[in-house]
Amino acid sequence: MTLTHSLRSDPASPVLLLFGAGGHGRVVADAALLTKSWSTIVVSDRDPARCVGPFLQGVDRIDLAIARSLTVSVHIAIGDNAAREWEASCFPTCHLVSVLHPFASVSQFSQLGAGCFVAAGAVLATGAQVGMACIVNHGAVVDHDAQLGAFCHVAPLATLGGEVILGQRVMVGAGVNILPGMRVTDDVVIGAGAVVRSDLLEPGTYVGVPARRLK
Ligand SMILES: CC(C)(COP(=O)(O)OP(=O)(O)OC[C@H]1O[C@@H](n2cnc3c(N)ncnc32)[C@H](O)[C@@H]1OP(=O)(O)O)[C@@H](O)C(=O)NCCC(=O)NCCS
Repeated sequence: MTLTHSLRSDPASPVLLLFGAGGHGRVVADAALLTKSWSTIVVSDRDPARCVGPFLQGVDRIDLAIARSLTVSVHIAIGDNAAREWEASCFPTCHLVSVLHPFASVSQFSQLGAGCFVAAGAVLATGAQVGMACIVNHGAVVDHDAQLGAFCHVAPLATLGGEVILGQRVMVGAGVNILPGMRVTDDVVIGAGAVVRSDLLEPGTYVGVPARRLK
């Protein structure tokens, strides 16, 4: 049987399509393999150069036309928030699924939207609410009752204190610390290492300790 023939939707042997064959895609594929939730995992990308050659053992690449024709579970494995949102809109008939690394700590009293990725060592504490297609990356902490709008990315080792509220498409850089209760509006980028100790209510890029607007 060819790979294409085996990519039919069948509850007995579920297929996961990862869209995004870059570095983040490999991280998500690694976690997805560990979960053993899917019998087949394939990966595709808008860039044809990323649809050939070896990817990760146990994950086959497929070309974009085949990927678009499938009606299987899809995870958009792209780190950039706007690109992830755009690609999610290109799979309207597919079921967006989340991938949770087995070594992530996700409270049974947290909520996770469709299509999220939670990496190894990440923590979602009690009452955390994470919107659609967010990334909570390696070792990041989303403390109690914090809220993330859709398509946010919390980079490795960033910490969101309790009751922090992020809008949509917020990029929280590596190692950022957002103090408890702060509000961050849509489309904000927070540079690596920043400390946010006041609300960020204008879209833009913020860096430093304390975080100040760069542009
Ligand atoms: C904040 C950020 C988005 C700015 O990127 P940029 O728009 O390309 O900015 P530049 O690199 O041109 O830097 C512009 C200025 O900001 C400063 N700057 C950039 N990033 C900074 C940071 N994280 N903290 C403090 N200052 C920073 C630069 O030193 C430069 O200052 P100068 O004009 O006095 O020389 C980027 O540097 C950053 O921190 N991205 C987050 C990366 C990350 O955590 N990725 C995780 C992937 S999983």
